[in-house]
Amino acid sequence: MPEKQDDLFAHKSKNWDMNSKRVQNAKSIAELIVKNIKPNKEMVIMDLGAGTGLLSFFVAPFVKKVVAVDNSPSMLMEFESKCDEFACETETILKNISTEDLEGRTFDGIISSMTIHHIEDVAALFHKLYRMLNDGGFIAIADLDSEDGSFHSDNTGVFHHGFDRKELQKFAEASGFKAIEFDTASTINKPHRAFTVFLMTARKQ
Ligand SMILES: C[S@@+](CC[C@H](N)C(=O)[O-])C[C@H]1O[C@@H](n2cnc3c(N)ncnc32)[C@H](O)[C@@H]1O
Repeated sequence: MPEKQDDLFAHKSKNWDMNSKRVQNAKSIAELIVKNIKPNKEMVIMDLGAGTGLLSFFVAPFVKKVVAVDNSPSMLMEFESKCDEFACETETILKNISTEDLEGRTFDGIISSMTIHHIEDVAALFHKLYRMLNDGGFIAIADLDSEDGSFHSDNTGVFHHGFDRKELQKFAEASGFKAIEFDTASTINKPHRAFTVFLMTARKQ
């Protein structure tokens, strides 16, 4: 039996989509994914740490199906409450990607926004994502560039204060990914400073 874990997003899920900067960030990431990857309507993709589905929603018109994986029941409940509005098929899976398996499921692509800073062992994550991809499949992962720890007002559940792009590149190479590229997807302006968000794309070739 998996250990029962606290839902770290329970107090945030209801109002998650009401933050316009958050919505704009997801939209900018989605637009860059579509531009750089050129997904198509035959693809089944996973949104890792999909949350309420902000990223999935904007990518949905360009794929056949989004499988939303998240370990927060409350965030997935919000996702499910609006899945009729998505322009593709959807499925939700309540799992902790670090500790649980997706029982042999594979995908044409894996997208993710603002999730991997919550995952302690990112090197192990890349190995796992590689195994879950079909040949030719892609990852498109967005998160914060290295920051000073001031992005979150409460760092509970935050394992990384952003990422060094070169370090992520090494993790991806070690897992076998090819065609690894980085781009800047957006800038999140907070009153005290600005935070840049990268998009990393790579292929299983
Ligand atoms: C900052 S939110 C981002 C949500 C969404 N991607 C967005 O951009 O609005 C991070 C999400 O990752 C999920 N998450 C964190 N660690 C996870 C894990 N180990 N397995 C699955 N989901 C995880 C959280 O529950 C949360 O919904």
